[in-house]
Amino acid sequence: MTDEPRKKPEDLRSHKWYGVKDLRSFGHRSRTAQMGFHRSDYAGKPVIAIINTWSDINPCHSHFKQRVEEVKRGVWQAGGFPVEMPALSLSEPFQKPTTMLYRNLLAMECEELLRSYPADGCVLMGGCDKTTPALVMGAISMDLPTIFMPAGPMLRGDYKGEFLGSGSDTWKYWAELRAGNITGDDWQDVEEGIARSPGHCMTMGTASTMTSAAEVLGLTLPGAASIPAPDSRHAQMAALTGKRIVDMVWEDLKPSDILTAASFDNAVTAVLALGGSTNSIVHLIAMARRAGIALDLKRFDALARKTPVLANLRPSGKYLMEDFFYAGGLRALLSQLDDLMDFGQATVNGRTLGANIESAKVFNDDVIRPRGNPLVASDGLAVLTGNLAPGGAVIKPAAMEPHLSRHRGPAVVFKDYNDMAARIDDPGLQVSRDSVIVLQSAGPQGAPGMPEWGQLPIPQKLLKEGVRDMLRISDARMSGTSYGACVLHITPESHVGGPLALVRDGDIVELDVQARSINMLVDEVELGKRRAAWRAPAPKFTRGYGVLYLRHIQQADTGCDFDFLETQEARRTAGGEPEIH
Ligand code: FES
Repeated sequence: MTDEPRKKPEDLRSHKWYGVKDLRSFGHRSRTAQMGFHRSDYAGKPVIAIINTWSDINPCHSHFKQRVEEVKRGVWQAGGFPVEMPALSLSEPFQKPTTMLYRNLLAMECEELLRSYPADGCVLMGGCDKTTPALVMGAISMDLPTIFMPAGPMLRGDYKGEFLGSGSDTWKYWAELRAGNITGDDWQDVEEGIARSPGHCMTMGTASTMTSAAEVLGLTLPGAASIPAPDSRHAQMAALTGKRIVDMVWEDLKPSDILTAASFDNAVTAVLALGGSTNSIVHLIAMARRAGIALDLKRFDALARKTPVLANLRPSGKYLMEDFFYAGGLRALLSQLDDLMDFGQATVNGRTLGANIESAKVFNDDVIRPRGNPLVASDGLAVLTGNLAPGGAVIKPAAMEPHLSRHRGPAVVFKDYNDMAARIDDPGLQVSRDSVIVLQSAGPQGAPGMPEWGQLPIPQKLLKEGVRDMLRISDARMSGTSYGACVLHITPESHVGGPLALVRDGDIVELDVQARSINMLVDEVELGKRRAAWRAPAPKFTRGYGVLYLRHIQQADTGCDFDFLETQEARRTAGGEPEIH
């Protein structure tokens, strides 16, 4: 990295909008003046697009109205011209059927905002689950200088003097309510205390997993992903992010200069050491493929076999992101992984990942465990294959009851979510603690959108018997805050005729995590008959964005990107820059 600016003002992309002397640039300048900016505010300066996923319906980003002003302050101070661009908010708690249906839409929006406006570089403001991969995917495809600014986790939840974790404790106390162990008033106390500040979920769910992955990839300032959203250091980080992106434009430091196969291996290893969300598998594969890097399920499994889970965070462990920050945060965790990481990889601040963690220390070794005392020795995630999942499936052994890691039992099959909701608590349901609950039609096409239904509910009558985990399988995803013996992402999905569509009540299903296998013990002749009788269901959409989605969505093992978006080839060959007339 050189200290000398590599670009001159006339090399800036925005020069084509602002710097030339023609009729169209007159329009750009006069309309900028209309917004109260003098020519000296922007002439010859990098234009920094700040892609902001704030909205009134995204509680995880409710502080972004303020944070964007701090990012702008940094941009101004460094000699840039900040331009805020609102984008799809993807509010995990509110958007139905699932934000995953729209991840690729936000990725497209991000890419096209950057392409079609005079952006020289960008700050991506995200954090709530899908916003991180979506923004990063779009920015990788456009490949302008980019910094990701994570929303930061919210503060710990509070209930009768105990800490509450987003999602994880919702599922826990919901099960206790259904089992009759807590009252409706208790449940209301949980509701009021579980989310008490701005910021994303503060368990090691998908949000914390993906913002941490973005930091390890080198796309954030060091330490950025662990700072709680309301902490004043988060505001400082926002301003520093704004300052740094201006220099990155002059240096022409782009995602393609930062992202490599080794940086993705680093991200996967960190996710595993964090006990991160299974959703990260889908997102990291999609992000890597945008960068032209062939990350696949086998690589996750290979890295999982040698990576210990060191972060003692819910849902796999005990603590929350606020504790993790006080214990030293992600930089401290990475400092424990020196033999498993390639610390020579580049990052947005111009230094290597290794240089960025040089001074990192662990301040609480129960929250960030030493290598000699891991939470789990290996296998934070495991990739399964077998006649139920020829293209692969995933499970999170660290967050399930260990006795289920080798299990055989009769299937109880639900043909879709509505069927499951209608019958799961039926006292007459033929089910025991050894049964295997199977949900079909919950994948990328079937649900559609591959929602987080994969932590299938345990039948109420078993909850009352004290059962808190059992083997459950589906082609859905699972919230990163969820837990249990849930086989997820079965590929190919049932809706397109995958073997999951052929399972019937009473079929024996066998899981062996050690052997990485998931099978139904049904002979091939019988399966052939069922396959011949299977009929493709009608498509779920007949108009609108949903049709585009169904035509182009790919399966979970390749990241659920649209087929026309995933390679760098499109950016290189499709006239990545608009014509300016
Ligand atoms: Fe936004 Fe969990 S709801 S991160």
